[in-house]
Amino acid sequence: DWTPASVIDEQVARIREQIGDAKVICGLSGGVDSAVAAALVYKAVGDQLTCVFVDHGLLRQDERRQVEEDFVDAIGVRLVTVDAREQFLTALAGITDPEEKRKTIGREFIRSFEQAEVDLIKEAQESGERIRFLVQGTLYPDVVESGGGTGTANIKSHHNVGGLPEDMQFELVEPLRTLFKDEVRAVGRELGVPEPIVARQPFPGPGLGIRIIGEVTQERLDLLREADAIVRQELTAAGLDTEIWQCPVVLLADVRSVGVQGDGRTYGHPIVLRPVSSEDAMTADWTRLPYDLLARISNRITNEVDDVNRVVLDVTSKPPGTIEWE
Ligand code: XMP
Repeated sequence: DWTPASVIDEQVARIREQIGDAKVICGLSGGVDSAVAAALVYKAVGDQLTCVFVDHGLLRQDERRQVEEDFVDAIGVRLVTVDAREQFLTALAGITDPEEKRKTIGREFIRSFEQAEVDLIKEAQESGERIRFLVQGTLYPDVVESGGGTGTANIKSHHNVGGLPEDMQFELVEPLRTLFKDEVRAVGRELGVPEPIVARQPFPGPGLGIRIIGEVTQERLDLLREADAIVRQELTAAGLDTEIWQCPVVLLADVRSVGVQGDGRTYGHPIVLRPVSSEDAMTADWTRLPYDLLARISNRITNEVDDVNRVVLDVTSKPPGTIEWE
């Protein structure tokens, strides 16, 4: 009989058997999969686990706090946060091409995550221990898509840290490999993972970086973060979080249009709302949000977010449009 509690018992036993008394690390993304995987491993081996969270500055409002405070308080796990915001901004300067943005963000992410791993490995070595395992929140659909393989991950110590083998190898711990997303959520709730994390809608790894059409700058990130927070607040208040698949909020950073507000003429940026309904993100339809809700969102964004004077709605299905704009 499938129950969240029975899955937890079974996985905890497996994890203990696999890990023994070794050390293990887990990267947290702010999303549900890595959080639930970490919570399971923590339940199994406690302080043998250290979590790593990279703040790349492309997160939405409150996401870092949710991981650093709410998740850590609820689960009790040890967490190392890497503040890589400057590093990402510097790397992204001047880049407007979507694929180049993704590559840059992916590369910097691995770089900062590996640096954190290397630091932890050194720390463990100094106390005579070795980190042998890496937790990944791989789900059943990912296993099927990638052909079912499991195994190991390499990290290359290409940083000037000395004293480490050229190539560190980790054995993977993947406690969610048999589960679908809704099952992961049920297990997460049973483990006490905070609701904002358990119920979180899909959010791309490159974060707000691919929702700024144009170059990513600090100013633009702050602006988009504010607009995105308003949209999320209003969708939640309207009780629509479970109705829609996700709602990208996009800043057309290189577009300006004329407006009129308060004392006179404005020349600001448009924000695009992209609410979509979907089963699996492969296809999607634009969500017919209530007009009064759209009006509220539009009023709030144009009043509260500096330099935004227009809110537009994307009414394209997928195909032909993708869900994200980049
Ligand atoms: P598209 O835009 O291709 O998005 O229709 C389909 C789903 O994938 C998410 N997405 C990403 N997720 N890294 C991610 O982790 C990415 O680079 C990325 N691009 C798109 C998107 O949010 C949607 O759920």
